[in-house]
Amino acid sequence: TTVIRINPSILSADFANLESELQRIGTADAVHVDVMDNHFVPNLTLGLPVVQRIHEVSPLPLDVHLMIEDPDRWAPQYAEAGAASVTFHAEAAAAPVRLARGLRDAGARAGMALRPATPVEPYLDMLAELDMLLVMTVEPGFGGQSFLDLTLPKIRRAAEAIRGAGLPLVVQVDGGITTETIQRAADAGATVFVAGSSVYGADDAAVAIESLRTAAAA
Ligand code: DX5
Ligand code: ZN
Repeated sequence: TTVIRINPSILSADFANLESELQRIGTADAVHVDVMDNHFVPNLTLGLPVVQRIHEVSPLPLDVHLMIEDPDRWAPQYAEAGAASVTFHAEAAAAPVRLARGLRDAGARAGMALRPATPVEPYLDMLAELDMLLVMTVEPGFGGQSFLDLTLPKIRRAAEAIRGAGLPLVVQVDGGITTETIQRAADAGATVFVAGSSVYGADDAAVAIESLRTAAAA
């Protein structure tokens, strides 16, 4: 049976009240932390000192998504800060294999992300170096965007390649995940779902998380 994981994104949380916003999602599987540097994407969020504090107060493990230039230089520090998984963008990494190995050596699960228009095929031979492949289902940079159906064939191809090779890595999707779109992503083979606005925009985050679990399994 497939293990479904729901990772709410604190990008849509109230940044002035992060500790209580982390408590709101206690029934989720991990907290997704979006790090943006205003260069890889046209938006700026938070960095290492804030991630270190989130790690100290969060009841959930940290799923760090780095939308930054030069992840080869910066990503290992997020692993050392205690993140359970650290995901860098393939488009930004100079040496993705070396970086993935460095993240694992630092004690984190290694994730690699692809923007919507980045093909998975050039990376098929390095999937064994990864614990997670993140297929972005919106252009990275902002919460609240609409799910891009054009990413579904890539999710499917990636999941089939992983299954065919007998590899243990999971496929994560991020962007525009709602109780409606989550089914399409799950059908295509994703098992880890990031949801920002659909969880933090709800009156009751626990209900929203449970609704996403139900919809993904349907
Ligand atoms: C976007 C971020 C996402 C974002 C998703 O670049 O990577 O994690 O928070 O937000 P929603 O779920 O609102 O699309
Ligand atoms: Zn993200």
